[in-house]
Amino acid sequence: MASAPDLQQAKKLLESARLAAKHAYAPYSHFPVGAAILTDKGHIYTGANVENASYGLTICAERVAVFKAISDGVQRFQAVAVWAEKTPNGSVTPCGACRQVLAEFLGSETPVFFHDQANGAIRWLTMDQLLPAAFAPDSAQGDSSPHRDNNSLPD
Ligand code: THU
Repeated sequence: MASAPDLQQAKKLLESARLAAKHAYAPYSHFPVGAAILTDKGHIYTGANVENASYGLTICAERVAVFKAISDGVQRFQAVAVWAEKTPNGSVTPCGACRQVLAEFLGSETPVFFHDQANGAIRWLTMDQLLPAAFAPDSAQGDSSPHRDNNSLPD
């Protein structure tokens, strides 16, 4: 189990994600999302979802934030935060596609923060909790080790 992340760091990242959501381009879903990713050097990159009239071309806030960092030459990260303006029933967590992209660059214990708007709580999951048994860079190099929670059938 990963140790609890720093609360001030989580608050700062979530605030960055909240502000980033203000730049969302979401005329179709009306569901603005912001994301913030903290680099190993302490810099924060933000992103917002960018939709398209051809709906499937929409890109989520998390991927915008990660791609901004990567295209700026940064590949090591400490934490991520995701924030959505409209989450009446709880929290927003990264979609499946974003989990796969995040798994490419985040360590398995890296925290992903989100805000429970029902009660104001800050919640977090590790990358491994978000995408267990991920197909990550090691796997693509044929270096995959069995996930600890794998089920196995008897011989
Ligand atoms: N969206 C994100 O940006 N991040 C998420 O984690 C969930 C979904 C966006 C995609 C789309 O523009 C809108 O939210 C509704 O799905």
